[in-house]
Amino acid sequence: MSTQSLHIIVLAAGKGTRMRSTKPKVLHPLAGRSMLERVLDEAESLDPASLHVVIGYGAEHIRQHCPRPDVSWVEQGEQRGTGHAVACAVTNIQAQTDDRVLVLYGDVPLLDVDVLSSLLDSARSADLGVLTTRLDDPSGYGRIIRDREQRMIAIREERDASADEKNITEINTGMLVASLDALRTWLPKLQPHNAQGELYLTDIVQMAAEEGKSIATHLAPDPLRVAGVNDRWALAQMERAWQLRQAQALAMSGTTIVDPARIDIRGDVICGMDCQIDINVVFEGQVRMGDNVVIEPNCILRDVTLGNGVRVRAFSHLEGATLGEGVEVGPYARLRPGAELAEHSKIGNFVEVKASRIGAGSKVNHLSYIGDTVMGADCNIGAGTITCNYDGTNKHQTVIGNQVFVGSSSQLVAPVHLGDEVTVGAGSTITQDVPSGHLAVARSRQVMKSGWQRPRKKSKAE
Ligand code: UD1
Ligand code: MG
Repeated sequence: MSTQSLHIIVLAAGKGTRMRSTKPKVLHPLAGRSMLERVLDEAESLDPASLHVVIGYGAEHIRQHCPRPDVSWVEQGEQRGTGHAVACAVTNIQAQTDDRVLVLYGDVPLLDVDVLSSLLDSARSADLGVLTTRLDDPSGYGRIIRDREQRMIAIREERDASADEKNITEINTGMLVASLDALRTWLPKLQPHNAQGELYLTDIVQMAAEEGKSIATHLAPDPLRVAGVNDRWALAQMERAWQLRQAQALAMSGTTIVDPARIDIRGDVICGMDCQIDINVVFEGQVRMGDNVVIEPNCILRDVTLGNGVRVRAFSHLEGATLGEGVEVGPYARLRPGAELAEHSKIGNFVEVKASRIGAGSKVNHLSYIGDTVMGADCNIGAGTITCNYDGTNKHQTVIGNQVFVGSSSQLVAPVHLGDEVTVGAGSTITQDVPSGHLAVARSRQVMKSGWQRPRKKSKAE
């Protein structure tokens, strides 16, 4: 076995004209993350000796989007083809000449490391290894040309292919591996003698064949994991195919999914047993659910942890929140980062909770804002209660003890502290701390006048 190490080049210089976008193609997201980030994650998991990304169109934008210390960025001033792009990067590689170079594309969003490992294995003792796949509709892709002995001898681009060649369904994914040594001899010999007048990387296959070099191919079993994106329709279809697979995986692990076509997972979701996800639910970031969690229709959940038996009612928006066992929220609830709801607490409709802890069994059922608050257990916060946490410059804390009852439409002006078993009369504006067990009423007294004459409407003539 040799001690050769692996260098990876990711091609991402093209504008992606067919995307019809000012944004570089590789920055368009699939399932919540840009295509390039996805490819770089897989590339990094191969633990390469060096990782080079060839950029051109929108180079600065791409660098800012992917701040990765291990990536060396290579600028390809003019996009003269995939062969030229690889040549730009190869001059950058400081290495032993028998090291191997793996070429990837930044526009293959569902690339997985397993298929790359298989390619590397298949090509372990070959001079060149090419990753292919089979497509029912191969149009637009380079076709794999083989001789009578089924040895690969060339890749023909669609535009340069004959009618017979166009019938070939085995296509070039674009990804290949070769020794650095061999690349350094082949790349300078590329000629732009083709329909696009570009330096095609794919032409090295014919060179290798003519030199009698060994060429290995690995046929990727799952075309979705190696497919490139050229336009937004392809991206949309790939998104749907991927979402369907994620829904299937969740269902197979014991989650009821009401409609697999109406769930979107843009991150990672882990469900316990017997969870149920209704239609139009979007998951982002890291979502963890215990057992028997129910998510009603039209909810967005980003980076949340839900305990056993949680129910999220329809049209709720949860971000950065932690919900204990048996908690209920919504419909129309908004939980913002730092919302911590202890077991069996309840957040009702049109209630916003931010950076606050709601104690066990406490209820905030209607039309309230609770921010920067620590609330004890078994409180009842009346409709329309607002913690006034912001004085225009700084945020202040509200502390509420256990078994506190706050009457409707009250304002708690922070910083303020309500002790245990405090009662606040409806419509109060509380600006001072209230000791435990006290009633606080802070509103103007009711005035009544007998014999009150209602104003009467003037007649037109008057
Ligand atoms: C390429 C392959 C084709 C393969 C297909 C798979 C060639 C000549 N053809 O065609 O055989 O079936 O991919 O998707 O290689 N890029 C640069 N600099 C350049 C040109 C391209 O960095 O000068 C990058 C692009 O940003 C893209 C990748 O290389 O990430 C592929 O380029 P693209 O123009 O999409 O090639 P295809 O025509 O799709
Ligand atoms: Mg392409």
